[in-house]
Amino acid sequence: MNSAADVIRMRAAGLTPRITLVLGSGLGSLADAVEGATTIPYGDLPGFPQPTVGGHAGRLVLGRLGNQAVAVMQGRSHYYEHGEATAMKVPLTALKAVGCEILILTNAAGSLRHEVGPGSLMLIHDHINLTGINPLVGEPGDNRFVNMSPAYDAELADRFRAAARRLDIPLADGIYMWFVGPSFETPAEVRAARVLGADAVGMSTVPEAVLARYLDLRVAAVCNITNLAAGMAVEPPSHAQTLAKSAVGAAALSRLIAGMLEAL
Ligand code: HPA
Repeated sequence: MNSAADVIRMRAAGLTPRITLVLGSGLGSLADAVEGATTIPYGDLPGFPQPTVGGHAGRLVLGRLGNQAVAVMQGRSHYYEHGEATAMKVPLTALKAVGCEILILTNAAGSLRHEVGPGSLMLIHDHINLTGINPLVGEPGDNRFVNMSPAYDAELADRFRAAARRLDIPLADGIYMWFVGPSFETPAEVRAARVLGADAVGMSTVPEAVLARYLDLRVAAVCNITNLAAGMAVEPPSHAQTLAKSAVGAAALSRLIAGMLEAL
């Protein structure tokens, strides 16, 4: 059987996607901006996880965005879907094998800052993982001891900030704290996260960032804030709200990513 990397090479012949973009909940439409797109369902890519979450299509879209050759993962796998932290290892390894050097992660997240409300974008400059879960548990060899300082590439972050200034898109900066989900946080957990220094909470991104650093990919990540975290607003967080509100920031996030890629 052909490997996922073989399938990508065959179907998108001649394209070397230097950048992989992972689209979070409700952000799938960012893939519509890809020019000359070749679309491969995850079902045709051995080892790619089938998403089970509404708002995650499960397709790899290869083509050009912001004048760069890109691979766009329209849908990711979350730990809460199956309890496997390593689910994104095959996709990221395959994309590295076909030439990927940079991973740009997006997600839907709850904000811990009242002034960064639904519809805002937040650049992640570091994360907190106190879940007790790490996708590198069980990896053999000394390269499992991955350096995470910094986990998020400073130059890529600066390029995002510069693109945001140029395009006049407000871009907050913050620390993302991973909660496993799929239940939302309690208000007490949200207060604890704030005390610990987090600015946003969410159910993704951290396993991919750890795997990507293991694979020596440079990482950048942006949150599309869909709500104030539990206990901070009258309406409690819900997946319906995540999907409904993600459209608010999605257009700006799409422009920001295209602008950042153009200047790379
Ligand atoms: N918590 C966790 N994940 C999320 C949230 C939240 O408040 N909003 C969107 N994804």
